[in-house]
Amino acid sequence: MSIDFTQKQSVVPAIGVVETAHLTSPMNPWDCEKNPPSWDAMHTQLNLPKATGYNQSTVCLDGHPDAILNKTALLWVSATHEVEHHSFLELSLASNQVANALTALGTNPQDRIFLFLERIPELYVSFFGGLKCHAILCPIFPAFGPEALLDRLQDAEASIVFTSPALKPRIDAIASQVPSLKTIVVVDRAHQWQPNPSASVQELDYYQWIAPQSRQFTVAHTPAETPSIMHYTSGTTGKPKGALHQHGACIAQAATAQWVLDLSVNDVYWCTADPGWVTGTSYGIFGPWALGVTQLVFEGAFKPETWYSILERFNVSVWYTAPTALRMLMKHGSDLPKSYQFKALRHICSVGEPLNPEAIVWGRDVFDQEIYDTWWQTETGSIHITNRIGLPVRLGSMGKPFPGVEACVLDDTFTPLPLGSEGALALKSAAPSMFKTYWNNQSKYESRFKNGWYLTGDRASVDTDGYFWFVGREDDVINTAGHLVGPFEVESALVHHPAVAEAGVIGLPCPERMEVIKAYISLKTGFVETPELLKEIALFVRSKLAAHAMPREIEVIESLPKTRSGKIMRRVLKARALGLPEGDTSTLEEV
Ligand code: WT7
Repeated sequence: MSIDFTQKQSVVPAIGVVETAHLTSPMNPWDCEKNPPSWDAMHTQLNLPKATGYNQSTVCLDGHPDAILNKTALLWVSATHEVEHHSFLELSLASNQVANALTALGTNPQDRIFLFLERIPELYVSFFGGLKCHAILCPIFPAFGPEALLDRLQDAEASIVFTSPALKPRIDAIASQVPSLKTIVVVDRAHQWQPNPSASVQELDYYQWIAPQSRQFTVAHTPAETPSIMHYTSGTTGKPKGALHQHGACIAQAATAQWVLDLSVNDVYWCTADPGWVTGTSYGIFGPWALGVTQLVFEGAFKPETWYSILERFNVSVWYTAPTALRMLMKHGSDLPKSYQFKALRHICSVGEPLNPEAIVWGRDVFDQEIYDTWWQTETGSIHITNRIGLPVRLGSMGKPFPGVEACVLDDTFTPLPLGSEGALALKSAAPSMFKTYWNNQSKYESRFKNGWYLTGDRASVDTDGYFWFVGREDDVINTAGHLVGPFEVESALVHHPAVAEAGVIGLPCPERMEVIKAYISLKTGFVETPELLKEIALFVRSKLAAHAMPREIEVIESLPKTRSGKIMRRVLKARALGLPEGDTSTLEEV
């Protein structure tokens, strides 16, 4: 099946767009084993003065030499398959306009600016515009509902939100509960939307707002430790926490983009993650653009034919995706990919969940490529344990620590275990991408460090050759299709439904999505279990939180197993769901 991709003029007039040919990389392929990388070498390669500081926007856009500035930075494919090319220079100049507009609005360094947008070019332009003003940028996954938005905007005390006409109603629904929110900037690519002058929060049309602004802006360099972006991540208890990152992170992101993703200037690279997740910023913005690489961004949703057509039509050479996506492609068989020609594709990496051996074997068959599994977290900001060129892939292992990272497994007293044992995966990371803190929650941040080790929350083992093997999570956090979901958030959404008295939420193993969400609920008196009611409850969670947080199964039980202090015992629910022994239930009270 072939898809018709229509070439479209850029919204920002194209300036000397050239294709990526004729630029040579200094050394390729990168082989950590033969020639270990270092953070210092990356500073030198990117020409970044450690002493005076820099700005991630200069590293990724303005600071590039002309040959890079004039080539395509963003090869954008819209949801309806229209294609736009945006050069590094265009993104640089347009983000200058946004920076000037933000300055005129009175934006101060470290103000929290949220980006709640589809994957459109203006998302990237606004992102850099904010960084140029030293604001803290918080991109949010566009599938999030009002409840999920409220938790994040309130916690961060957001001052500005960039959004689109389609997504704005979800901001409007909560704006009155976020007193810090001063301005909503609306990006309407159809140029139909009009601001409401009497709205309680100032509304601005993005294009009209930036139009009078100069395309020049002097970016003040800043120490590497200056905060730059924040991603919210879910834990077992409480609301999601904002992991705060810094400008200096781009050193680690560029180094790993080069040495693990194997990127160099001639590549056309496609990272399938949305910038609302850390993969979509670290490797969908910073790492590749710091190296001057052309990135393809596809606005639309997953569909096997579309994805294969994109890989083929745009000569994608390096592809960073997720195990669930690979498994969904696998489900559609091998004949479909074999009907395409992936002539340029030469390197594939995966992240977010364990990459099962079958997917690697399938990748060898249909792409004639190894798929390199990479492990990291929102908190680490860059790839920390990984497979890579020069290290033979062991099916099912996530590889070895990236040079500069020390990793081990610990016992219950936080002491390193001998090789071969299973324990808590811990890191000593010298990477400048490690998070600085959890926003408003320094004590939670400190609780992640023990005996000098950063506790990842994962369980793993290391074999005698130093390869790491993922075992599972240490906590109740659910990993569904590579997205972490906190059971507490889903339980809180469930009990907001008028029929639900109590709720306990667990992850059930799923061959495709790693885990799916199962909710146990008890009903309030007067409500009767019907398939319609359960469906309504599931959709209620979806509308409040997000599609990926919706329980795929809901089971009504009389009462939930609780400790004497009233805490729901998810462990017992999980054991029941899996038909396993329920373990120590001495503190159990089930009434
Ligand atoms: C958690 C972090 C960082 C990218 C996206 C997820 C799980 C991540 C792997 C892998 C097994 C993995 C871990 C980790 N995870 N990569 N290669 N193999 N598990 O970021 O949302 O912060 O999730 O995802 O459990 O702790 P995140």
